[in-house]
Amino acid sequence: MEPFRTIIEPFRIHAVEPIRITSREERAAAIEVAGRNLFALHADDVLIDLLTDSGTGAMSRDQWAAIQHGDESYAGSPSWYTFLEAVQELWPFRHVIPTHQGRAAEKILFSVIGGAGKVIPNNTHFDTTRANVEATGAEAIDLVIPEGRDPSAIHPFKGNVDLEALEALLTARAADVPVVFVTITNNSGGGQPVSLENLRAVRALCDRFGVPLFLDACRFAENAWFIKTREPGQEDRSIPDIVRDMAALADGMTMSAKKDGLANIGGWLAMNDDALADACRNLLILTEGFPTYGGLAGRDLEAIAQGLREVVHEDYLRYRIRSTAYLGEALHAAGVPLVRPFGGHAIYLDARALLPHLPPLQYPGQALAVALYMEGGVRGCEIGTVMFGRHPDGTEAPAAMDLVRLAIPRRTYTQSHIDYVIEVVRRVADRAAELRGLRLVQPEPRSLRHFTARFEPLA
Ligand SMILES: Cc1ncc(COP(=O)(O)O)c(C=O)c1O
Repeated sequence: MEPFRTIIEPFRIHAVEPIRITSREERAAAIEVAGRNLFALHADDVLIDLLTDSGTGAMSRDQWAAIQHGDESYAGSPSWYTFLEAVQELWPFRHVIPTHQGRAAEKILFSVIGGAGKVIPNNTHFDTTRANVEATGAEAIDLVIPEGRDPSAIHPFKGNVDLEALEALLTARAADVPVVFVTITNNSGGGQPVSLENLRAVRALCDRFGVPLFLDACRFAENAWFIKTREPGQEDRSIPDIVRDMAALADGMTMSAKKDGLANIGGWLAMNDDALADACRNLLILTEGFPTYGGLAGRDLEAIAQGLREVVHEDYLRYRIRSTAYLGEALHAAGVPLVRPFGGHAIYLDARALLPHLPPLQYPGQALAVALYMEGGVRGCEIGTVMFGRHPDGTEAPAAMDLVRLAIPRRTYTQSHIDYVIEVVRRVADRAAELRGLRLVQPEPRSLRHFTARFEPLA
């Protein structure tokens, strides 16, 4: 494919799903009913749904076929063993604990190792990760490198952990740190990758202070592709080998199979520590189900196993990363401020830079996300002060960045859908100065407020 510049989808369409074009009046009515919260829209009022890449991708013919192999035995299903083998092929941890999605793995792990007085560092905690840490009374700290907080700073591995900051934290409080987390790729920081070199250095610090290292590995295959294409010495290595290198540096992982499991549901928690696994399995049985199915049906386990075989294909990853960059390059060329370099699964619009007339506590990200929906039925997701601005002590402060994430579901939209999105964003950017800020309707939700909050326009 080298001489060709056109990205082609390495698949053809086998089943189609209609999407509905709405009028501006219909969208205005829908967004009013939804309280200007895009999570509250009916999805069939959305034309191009870039709210999340989580569980929204298209499954392959072979995944649908695998679903027919699903064995629904309560205990010891063959589908469990198929799943276990596929997970351990890439992540050879001793214990694999299936869960219905990533946050269930987080909830179980942090219930066991969290608690008041504990502190859990990460490059950037995802919202559910932070919420699950804080729900136990522990503190969640983000220690990404400074470039990772600057939307326009160019760095090949902007998801890297700030090693000096981690060393300082461990020097001061190692006894309070039950685990160091690293999120690959760093979703809340712009879908940015973490290098093997950085993971090795984090591992060395963890060894020095006797603290385990876990990966939040939702987008591990995309991270491995960035390592292959950006990290010196990695270009000739296979994706599974790079993934196994990441695994070898960690003591465990949490995973949402709704991302790089290429499935619509599922996840797991994995680790080498026998005692920790025991404690986690006991909680699993209380909340998710028997340890050979977790919160999943046998058919889901099969779909994930096949997804894991497909997600490490280089043709898929080349298309995936190139097609995300295609959206970013077009918007950058049009002068729209964006997080750069482009993330693996999403393009992040820098709402704070695009709407400098709106202070962060008027939620520029939310205002921009609402405007994109109104303009063309495109649904993105605010990742900014609405999502991260409210703190456990009740105070509200601007988040590090105010972004709108346009997350690309896997293998779902074609290049013409993306061309349409580019047009919509450009039209909104052209009249950015007219956008008004928003106010949260009180009382606001007590946690994860972005999912259910309602907003009113400011005068
Ligand atoms: C980095 C990261 N961690 C954890 C999760 C939680 O996974 P789930 O949505 O399956 O609960 C997500 C989901 O978006 C994520 O992006």
